[in-house]
Amino acid sequence: PAPHPLAGRHALVTSGPTHEPIDPVRYLANRSSGRQGHAIAAALADLGARVTLVTGPVGIADPPGVTVRRVETARQMLDACQSALPADVAVFAAAVADWRVEHESAGKIKKQSGVAPPVLSLTPNPDILATIAAAGPLRPRLVIGFAAETSDLMQNAQAKLKRKNADWIVANDVSPDTGIMGGAENAVSIVSADGIETWPRLAKDDVARRLAQRIVATLHGALA
Ligand code: C5P
Repeated sequence: PAPHPLAGRHALVTSGPTHEPIDPVRYLANRSSGRQGHAIAAALADLGARVTLVTGPVGIADPPGVTVRRVETARQMLDACQSALPADVAVFAAAVADWRVEHESAGKIKKQSGVAPPVLSLTPNPDILATIAAAGPLRPRLVIGFAAETSDLMQNAQAKLKRKNADWIVANDVSPDTGIMGGAENAVSIVSADGIETWPRLAKDDVARRLAQRIVATLHGALA
């Protein structure tokens, strides 16, 4: 096979968590490490793609050969993704916070004895995947999402495929006993209109390489 089968293609990848501010020193976040998303960006670059990686705050190194856009919030992540279009393929591996604090405090919220603790009111964040998948002529040819679930994995993944207008959903069980969230391995199934393909438990780097190969096959098939 050609050493750089994705030469001339642009891939957009999101990775990591988002941080949603409460006040200047506090935020809401989640346990995403960014490992799977970063590995996917690296694997696509290895195959010759020009890659834009839009990442939330993570403690891992930038993948080599990739343009990295660092963001904190979901809204910033959406803006960065929209600015990166057009793309041939988009992989949404970020664990975007579903909600943000409705009224961010301009100053640090003070703890005062005898005063009740603050109550945080949340409001939904934009769905980045669904927004990009609905981008009309700017919609990437291949839109890939993740479904990290702790129950009813396949049903949720299939529902997500339709609701978000994705082409594939990479479904993974992130129950605490799997060690997947933040770990080095992943066990995924690829859910698409063609059915469900279940892969063995693999290193996240190998999941990334296999996903990148599947992207090559599909983009080339679609253009043949
Ligand atoms: O609905 P749920 O969060 O489970 O969907 C997961 C998929 O949707 C992932 O691919 C994630 O990156 C993407 N997503 C997104 N923007 C959101 C929420 C999820 O892009 N606000």
